[in-house]
Amino acid sequence: MGALSERTEDTMDLGVEQFGLSGRTALVTGAGRGVGAGIAHVLAAAGATVAVNDLHAARADSVVDAITGAGGAAVACPFDVTDGDGTAEALARVADLVGDVDILVHNAGIPDGGGRPNRFVDMPSSDWQLQIDLNLAAMMRMVQSVLPRQIENGWGRIVQISSGASSQGLPIGVGAYGAAKAGSEGLIRHLGVECGPHGVTANALALGLMEGLGRADDPAVQKMIRGIPIGRLGTGADVGAAILWLCSEAGGLVNAQVIHLNGGTVFGR
Ligand SMILES: NC(=O)c1ccc[n+]([C@@H]2O[C@H](COP(=O)([O-])OP(=O)(O)OC[C@H]3O[C@@H](n4cnc5c(N)ncnc54)[C@H](O)[C@@H]3O)[C@@H](O)[C@H]2O)c1
Repeated sequence: MGALSERTEDTMDLGVEQFGLSGRTALVTGAGRGVGAGIAHVLAAAGATVAVNDLHAARADSVVDAITGAGGAAVACPFDVTDGDGTAEALARVADLVGDVDILVHNAGIPDGGGRPNRFVDMPSSDWQLQIDLNLAAMMRMVQSVLPRQIENGWGRIVQISSGASSQGLPIGVGAYGAAKAGSEGLIRHLGVECGPHGVTANALALGLMEGLGRADDPAVQKMIRGIPIGRLGTGADVGAAILWLCSEAGGLVNAQVIHLNGGTVFGR
């Protein structure tokens, strides 16, 4: 009973400072634009030093410039997260630049150039491999690289960016993508249970439709928005805010979960 009432008093102390990331380091993959850039901006604004990864160095550089211009701390770490042999070396460079990675956000998930939607019956096996490499194998390698130090340090956060396509069948030729995202969610659930005792949490955010898919006045985009009860597409800032909660002290109770971030989307409307 004593422990329970002490915990209740701790809870009463939860203030906004519990949402800060001062002194933390974060690596965000695919952060040179879109959702990842939004995540990097929010984590830096909360006080983290952010390693901005992207396949394209120029994209990573421009996000770093914007963050540092706004008074935040960030470094560019361009590399291809699907390069199995190169990842360990690239992550050693990240560690040289920012130290141990306290927060890993694996956001890179759409192949360069957008990937090719393909009905499964027509899909070349190379498309399957590409989705598995980017969404599942890359995540596995990243986590394996940063997890030992997080466990030694007794603190860490792993966030996988997933998609509603992992749990909802869609008639738009994204079966391989959905399967790879579903696999990543499976790994997250096990990771959270294995690592929770060491102070490391692992969660996935399954995103709905995000801004940037097309012009707001495009009838196809408007049809998609009709299925979103809040009446708008998601933004990188929305995703960053959710990740800030998961990665701060305030979010420490959230572990081994897949959280849907989609404005309450009703599919097929
Ligand atoms: N956009 C959406 O509507 C939507 C919906 C659900 C889930 N998601 C998920 O959100 C995440 C971000 O999507 P987005 O729309 O911002 O994508 P995006 O294509 O706008 O940006 C992704 C970035 O990742 C980089 N990238 C691609 N392959 C890489 C690699 N091998 N190594 C390093 N960087 C690489 C790209 O260069 C690009 O800058 C993805 O995981 C995606 O599956 C997006």
